[in-house]
Amino acid sequence: MKATTIALVVIISLVFVSTAFSVPPGKTLTFPDGKIGKVVFDGKKHKDAGVKCKDCHNGTIFPSMKDAKAVVGPPVLTMKDLNAGKYCGACHNGTTEINGKVVFKTKGTCKKCHIKE
Ligand code: HEC
Ligand code: HEC
Ligand code: HEC
Repeated sequence: MKATTIALVVIISLVFVSTAFSVPPGKTLTFPDGKIGKVVFDGKKHKDAGVKCKDCHNGTIFPSMKDAKAVVGPPVLTMKDLNAGKYCGACHNGTTEINGKVVFKTKGTCKKCHIKE
């Protein structure tokens, strides 16, 4: 009985660990501390928009593909950094074009990223 319980706990935590932090297409990453609402990053939406893995995983915007595997949990991001063109703000700045379309900026479009529960 006790061993079964422990095994269950181990299996459940493994499932959580392997699903929580993967963001390739089909996966999402939730930034819990949005203050005005959490932010859900959707790997599929980005792939469908024509964003390549290396557009983000280039060691500048986000860790390289190799390094990304070692990262645990979502990075801590601030609007100050995003508005200064870092991380998500490297594209979400109202000037960067991907697939011939200008990516929406952070200013004035809060609700595109921040979801209220
Ligand atoms: C629009 C930006 C963006 C794109 C495009 C993107 N990722 Fe990510 N990815 C992230 C962010 C943000 C994280 C979380 C922070 C980190 O690990 O650097 C992440 C994390 C990861 C991780 C580490 C999570 C884990 O399970 O350890 C892997 C692996 C990964 N991405 C694979 C991919 C692959 C494969 C593609 C292309 C098919 C891709 N990503 C495309 C932004 C992106
Ligand atoms: C390499 C460029 C790039 C980076 C970096 C990037 N995005 Fe995006 N994102 C896009 C593109 C392109 C689209 C789809 C086109 C559009 O909606 O303007 C998109 C769409 C989205 C959408 C969908 C909005 C909707 O209407 O459904 C959200 C939410 C989003 N991004 C959040 C983020 C967050 C959060 C980050 C950082 C963790 C991030 N993005 C980083 C390029 C990027
Ligand atoms: C491209 C997506 C995106 C857009 C658009 C966006 N945010 Fe954010 N915001 C984020 C992410 C990602 C975080 C980090 C959350 C975390 O670390 O848990 C964040 C964090 C925050 C935080 C808490 C951290 C801090 O910097 O104070 C506030 C407040 C915030 N956003 C306000 C806003 C407001 C107001 C707008 C509109 C003017 C906005 N955001 C638009 C993605 C976005």
